[in-house]
Formats: sequence, structure tokens, C-alpha cells
Amino acid sequence: AKKVIIDCDPGIDDALALMLALASPELDILGITIVCGNVPAAKGAENALKVLDWMGRTDIPVYLGEDKPLVRDYTDAMDTHGLDGLGESGFPSVTAARPKPGAVSFLTETLKTTEQVSIIALGPLTNIARVISRAPDCLHGLDEFVSMGGSYKSHGNCSPVAEYNYWCDPHAAKVVYDAFAGLPQLKGKRIHMVGLDVTRNIVLTPSLLWYMQSINPSMGSRIAAITRFYMEFHWKQEGIIGCVINDPLAVAYFIDRRLCSGFSCYTAIETEGICIGQSVADPMDFWKNPHNSLILTQTDPFGFMKFFFQRVINTKEN
Ligand code: BDR
Ligand code: CA
Repeated sequence: AKKVIIDCDPGIDDALALMLALASPELDILGITIVCGNVPAAKGAENALKVLDWMGRTDIPVYLGEDKPLVRDYTDAMDTHGLDGLGESGFPSVTAARPKPGAVSFLTETLKTTEQVSIIALGPLTNIARVISRAPDCLHGLDEFVSMGGSYKSHGNCSPVAEYNYWCDPHAAKVVYDAFAGLPQLKGKRIHMVGLDVTRNIVLTPSLLWYMQSINPSMGSRIAAITRFYMEFHWKQEGIIGCVINDPLAVAYFIDRRLCSGFSCYTAIETEGICIGQSVADPMDFWKNPHNSLILTQTDPFGFMKFFFQRVINTKEN
């Protein structure tokens, strides 16, 4: 199995991504690190523990990370994810397990001491930026880096051009993208950018949800409970029937590369002005900078849904 740390801000779609990761034997999840994003870090950790409990995996450690962005004031996304971050679904908190302090130290130490560790980042990149600025040498141990965030041609979800994770902490996103363009220990490596161009195609519709519940009532009704608020938000806000579930695509793509494709190029992150948080990809190579990113632009929504059903809903493989 591939060793991986999942850095996240649960968050409804983060919770679905964790469910998918936990149901995937290809992954050896060393730990879950929490960053402030959709909800403050302590709330995110509480939610990660709930998901671990549902999946019977409270043996996996959860680490509390940064509780504010590097420079910007913190803006949560509770309007989208509910006051509890899980769609105000009211599931009880887990009392048997507690989050540990020190997400940044855990990431740093693990990268230093363990070979071939990958990171799947599903929230703002604040924890990762802290690791890079505090202990850049540990990046020798990094295998692959997947980030749900940014957008190339698709419009933003926080401004005309910016996606939430990079908009919430643009300075952190810049530290990470610049590191992949410049640090010798990351030479040749790319950030796999699973941005809105691909994730917008992954829509959990009411009929899919109904089918999940009919095949697997306990898992299906849990997913229905946490996505109800999110669906209402999409309907009221964007006129979409169903909800866009961004983060699970990053996990699915990490396991099966056929689910997304794109191109390699240099990408910069804007940290100021009206375009704050925008990911600016340069496929025409105007800037002649080293390629730091693989920008994913194509995906297979049906393939993804099948993948999710086979694992989380656990239908028979065919
Ligand atoms: C991203 O922002 C968050 O609200 C979601 O969890 C996802 O990671 C989408 O822009
Ligand atoms: Ca997220």
C-alpha cells in the first residue's frame, strides 16, 4: 500500500474523501492532519474523528494543525458546510479518541523518517507551507503531492477567479507552488492540481444518494444526513440539483490515475488584489519557469462514481 498523510479541513466533501480513503486498501494512511478552512481546526479534527469512528479506524492518529492562514484573516466556509462543518447533521462526537497536537511536526518528522510518503491535501495549504518553511530538507522524503484547489479555466467559487482552498490562504499556496518550482529536493516533482475544472463535474445528485441508501442503508443515510445542507446550499446559491463533491476526486485520482488527466506547466499563485488566490497556469510557457504542476482538466465522472460506490457503498465488483 502507498503511505499517505491526508491533510484536510472536514468539511462535508473532506468527510466523503476520508470515507473513500479509509475504504481503499491501496492506501496506508499514516495520519490525518487538520488545517483551518471550512471550519476551525478543532472542529475539523472532531469531524475527522467522527468519520474514523464510523469506519472503525480510530487507530489512525488525527493531528491538529494551523488555526489561521499565514497572512490573511481567516474566513471559514460554514455557510456551505454548516456550523458544525458536517451539514448540521448532529452526529455525536467521539469521546474514545482525541486529536493530538502538532500537525506540522508530525508531517515534518514523518517525511524525515519514512521513505516514500505522499500527501493528499484537501484544504488550504497552511500546514504544508509551514513544513516547507520550517524544515525544507524533510521534503526529500516526499513521494507525491496532490492538492485539491485552484482552477485553470473554470471560474472560482470565492471570486470570479479564485477557488476556496487557495483563496483562504493564498500565501501558503504560493509557498508550496514556489517550492515545487525552485527547491532542489523537489526537482522534477509536480503538484497534482485537482482543481475546480475537474471537481465541478463530480455532482452527487439526489438520485445517486437515493441509490446509495437503497444499497447500503446505514452508510447511505449517513451520507444523506451530511450532504442535505450542502445540497440545499447548491440549489439556493447556484441552481444546481445535487452537490459538487470536490475532495473525494483527489483521493480517487491518487489511487487511479485514469480518473483525471491534464498537462504539466508552471503555475503561480496570486496573493494580492482582485485576483487574490488565483492559480495562474502558464501552459504556453511565457515565463520559462520550471514546471511545478500537473493541471488536471479532464475527468470521468461516471468512473469516479462507480469507484466511490464500489468502495464506500461496497457493491460487488464487476
Ligand atoms: C474546496 O473548498 C472546500 O470548501 C471544500 O472542502 C474543498 O476542499 C472546494 O473549493
Ligand atoms: Ca476541503
